[in-house]
Amino acid sequence: MNKIIKITVGLKERSYDIITGQGILSNASEYLAPFVKGRKCLLLTDSNVGPLYAEKVAEMLIAAGAEAFTFPFQAGEENKTLETVGGICSHAVKCGLDRSSLIIALGGGVCGDIAGFAAAIYMRGINFIQIPTTLLAAVDSSVGGKTGADLPEGKNLIGAFWQPKLVLMDPEVFATLPLKEIRCGLAEVVKYGVIMDAPLFAKLEENTDKLNAVDLEFYTEIIARCCELKAKVVAADEREGGLRAILNYGHTFGHAVELVSNFTLAHGEGVAVGMNMAAELAVQAGLLDRAVAVRQRKLLEKLALPCTLPPGGDPEQIYTGMLKDKKKVGSRLNLIIPLDIGKVEIKSGFEPADIIKAIRCCCE
Ligand SMILES: NC(=O)c1ccc[n+]([C@@H]2O[C@H](COP(=O)([O-])OP(=O)(O)OC[C@H]3O[C@@H](n4cnc5c(N)ncnc54)[C@H](O)[C@@H]3O)[C@@H](O)[C@H]2O)c1
Ligand SMILES: [Zn+2]
Repeated sequence: MNKIIKITVGLKERSYDIITGQGILSNASEYLAPFVKGRKCLLLTDSNVGPLYAEKVAEMLIAAGAEAFTFPFQAGEENKTLETVGGICSHAVKCGLDRSSLIIALGGGVCGDIAGFAAAIYMRGINFIQIPTTLLAAVDSSVGGKTGADLPEGKNLIGAFWQPKLVLMDPEVFATLPLKEIRCGLAEVVKYGVIMDAPLFAKLEENTDKLNAVDLEFYTEIIARCCELKAKVVAADEREGGLRAILNYGHTFGHAVELVSNFTLAHGEGVAVGMNMAAELAVQAGLLDRAVAVRQRKLLEKLALPCTLPPGGDPEQIYTGMLKDKKKVGSRLNLIIPLDIGKVEIKSGFEPADIIKAIRCCCE
């Protein structure tokens, strides 16, 4: 019997459990029943995940006593739009979903974000459940209640805070997940170690072989720890008034890196480069030992994540890209700066020239 781990996100009346364990999808009806029995459920999934897992999950919903409908959408960030959200809501009307019904997200972060957003606005808000199928969704997007969609003007510009009722995570779905997606999720896992958990970071360093071999038992343990850390941050700061910003470590640099690379670098890859840039800035400002920055870089490299800007990348362009980040307060750039493994600080007031110098040090 595989180990099942339960983590509670403590948000008073909005509290919910994250349940993870290998093979948990085969027993999902047991966990789903208290929420879905006697109700209509719209199972939202993308065109890659649907053919692999939707039937199994639909069977589990039916076994749990629900009436299940499926809505597949075309996979990809370019479909994280209001149009897709509108399509979900129209389909929900057609299936007769009412205020007591649920939306179930089966997929990666794109699916979770738009399913959650549709749930937040359909009939002014109905319940939803997350079944993440990427590592990034498991350790990051499925926890914390940020939902939304992109606009032609930029990513995640519309959305709502809407917490799920349950998160069910079966690492066995990683068997079909492309390795590049696993690596992108690992960048976020490393991020948790750097921002708030030195023992986790050390564990990752000692087990890069298990991480690279996608050892599911080890992944279950790591996912649970990351969810626990995110749950702690979210419980302390549900709507990102302060502490929650530390989860953006490496992201202000990273988003700009993604943009300047014309999205040839994926999000997790941009974040890996961004964490190196943030550490370099910290070293140059005398806030971080060089040895610690090297430790971070070595771990990322062992996980085959990029640490530098690809050739042709322009540091000034990255800086300009960073100024567009919506995490900016007024004209100041708020950056998450590492002080040690397991410890970061939110700092503003860096000179543009110093930021550009740090970026330049992370160019190939
Ligand atoms: N809400 C939040 O707090 C939060 C946090 C971080 C990221 N996000 C959002 O998450 C999104 C990125 O999420 P993602 O990286 O999961 O992307 P994604 O949902 O696009 O999934 C990546 C790819 O993997 C495929 N896939 C998913 N699971 C699979 C499986 N088990 N087997 C085979 N293929 C599978 C998908 O079809 C897709 O092609 C972005 O839109 C980002 O803005 C949200
Ligand atoms: Zn991220």
